Amino acid sequence: MPNRFAQCLTGHTGVLGVIGDPIAHSLSPAMHNAALQALDKDYIYVPFAVSPLHVQEAVAGVKALGIKGINVTIPHKVAVIDYLDEVDPVAQLIGAVNTISNQAGRLIGYNTDGYGFLRSLQEEAGRDPEGQKVVLLGAGGAARAVGFQLALSKIQSLVVANRTESRALALAAEIHEQTGCPTVGSGLDSLDSHLSAADILINTTSLGMYPQITTVPPVEIEHLPPTALVCDIVYNPSETLLIQKAADSGRATLPGLGMLAYQGAAALELWLQVKAPIDVMKTALRMQLASQ
Ligand SMILES: NC(=O)c1ccc[n+]([C@@H]2O[C@H](COP(=O)([O-])OP(=O)(O)OC[C@H]3O[C@@H](n4cnc5c(N)ncnc54)[C@H](OP(=O)(O)O)[C@@H]3O)[C@@H](O)[C@H]2O)c1
Repeated sequence: MPNRFAQCLTGHTGVLGVIGDPIAHSLSPAMHNAALQALDKDYIYVPFAVSPLHVQEAVAGVKALGIKGINVTIPHKVAVIDYLDEVDPVAQLIGAVNTISNQAGRLIGYNTDGYGFLRSLQEEAGRDPEGQKVVLLGAGGAARAVGFQLALSKIQSLVVANRTESRALALAAEIHEQTGCPTVGSGLDSLDSHLSAADILINTTSLGMYPQITTVPPVEIEHLPPTALVCDIVYNPSETLLIQKAADSGRATLPGLGMLAYQGAAALELWLQVKAPIDVMKTALRMQLASQ
């Protein structure tokens, strides 16, 4: 098979990429290379499989090789922090970095996951977070990013509900302490009492994710107000069972693909100071998902 890049890679081509373990199923190379092509930028975005044993060397390599920026995915989002020159305040609050920008040899860490959700909420669902009562399912890495970002966006209140209640209580206390946003934690069993007042419900657990596509978070959709928005950050499948059930009940819905596209767009904008072609990125994600 001929090398697809033989005609287009030169000594001037800049490098971007993503580190993770595993990395083979990452959708980011397809999304970012489509964006770079649409922008006519002489850059390539490369997947790097990095074992947890080599995170420090991988980050040093970004500097040594003059790589312009990288995304960081599971399981390295926390570990990379120790090896950066600077960490953005929001990423510090979240305690995880998903984007590193190489600014003239200084590596600066950001977290664009929560921002990606916020942009998707505003642009795709048309919802302003200000004044909203939010119920967040989950207390893992994605819940931290979404929870802190919303707490910084003038929501009225936040409930963090998780299978392991102690993690929900700990995250809720941290968000309240760090942002001042009224936040409580709960187990999934005692969630029902919070649903009738919720404006926005967000699933950040992995329930419903491929291959467990018939699983669904234990939420009585009918107990939400009819005007509530139901969001699921799981993007594979592109419509989870939770999203289908919410749509069947007549409630507005927001699937997770938009968050993925907007977190990538924010990273690209940090690296190259360009306006990211969000529609191109969404189309590339849909095509990549359909082909997997
Ligand atoms: N759209 C996007 O851009 C985007 C970005 C990031 C992540 N995501 C998606 O978000 C999901 C979570 O990612 P993460 O990084 O936060 O993972 P994580 O840190 O491993 O957290 C997983 C969360 O799911 C809960 N959970 C797992 N299995 C469960 C079950 N059987 N019943 C109830 N709760 C269960 C865990 O609860 P316990 O604490 O009780 O274990 C925890 O709260 C994944 O599907 C990921 O693909 C999407």
